[in-house]
Amino acid sequence: MTDIRGLAYIVARHPDLTQWRRFGEQVIGMQAVAAPTGSLWLKMDERACRLIIEEHAESRYFASGWELSCEETFVAAGTRLTEAGVEWHRATLAEKVSRNCIDMIWFEDPSGNRHELVLGFKTDFRRFASPTATSFVTGDLGMGHTALPAPKFDATWKLMHEVLGFSLSDFMHHQPDPAGPAARIWFAHCNNGRHHSLALAEMEVASGCVHLMVEVPDMDEVGRAMDRQRKEGIKLMATLGRHVNDRMTSFYLLTPSGFALEYGYGGRVVNWDRNVVHETTQVSLWGHDFSIGFG
Ligand SMILES: [Fe+2]
Repeated sequence: MTDIRGLAYIVARHPDLTQWRRFGEQVIGMQAVAAPTGSLWLKMDERACRLIIEEHAESRYFASGWELSCEETFVAAGTRLTEAGVEWHRATLAEKVSRNCIDMIWFEDPSGNRHELVLGFKTDFRRFASPTATSFVTGDLGMGHTALPAPKFDATWKLMHEVLGFSLSDFMHHQPDPAGPAARIWFAHCNNGRHHSLALAEMEVASGCVHLMVEVPDMDEVGRAMDRQRKEGIKLMATLGRHVNDRMTSFYLLTPSGFALEYGYGGRVVNWDRNVVHETTQVSLWGHDFSIGFG
């Protein structure tokens, strides 16, 4: 089992932070906090922030933050990257302040995704106060999952699996056109019970992310978020549905930075000693019409 405990945070970029603030507070129910770095921090729990939005000319998903529990495992991860010939960088002081971590190193995988490995976290444990009175399922399960583009699939999986220790939960082949090519989508877990913290999809995605998933503790919060999405005129990327593999009941909406956010309830918590790797032949038990968003 890998030393990575979960998805700690993600970083996105956008030229207009007011758009993200409105989306974060009024649509998805997160708490906006002004960061000392000039970025926008969105809180989901007692952590200082889980979504870091940097004011930047480009609009995209920028980085995934993966959490290591202690100095030993953090140093060991850097050593494994070095041994595998992966070039990595130590965070600047400004980056560490921005990420609320004790220490951080970062690297890019062969598909160009930026991964940040963080030692622990730094927070004042101030209570999360959602403007829409919701809460999020985080804690030991991490902030959610991220699905990243991996056009250089084999090399990217090799790094995430063999060097960082993510393990395969299950996989599928995405084939929208039966006569066309199939793209691999592999779902991987780290050292927690969330069905997948990382998914790799064999495709190019201009925004830098296929989707990010956050989880709420009851179905009504998903429904209320759908009401707010409609009221605020936010683009729906997939209709309500329930996934086959993590059993998440969710819908997808478009973030200001151009990637999709999956907003779900009821994700399966897996005992990895009992899991058998398998291939799923469909994305969802019902619903999740993606053609409205991506077609
Ligand atoms: Fe998902």
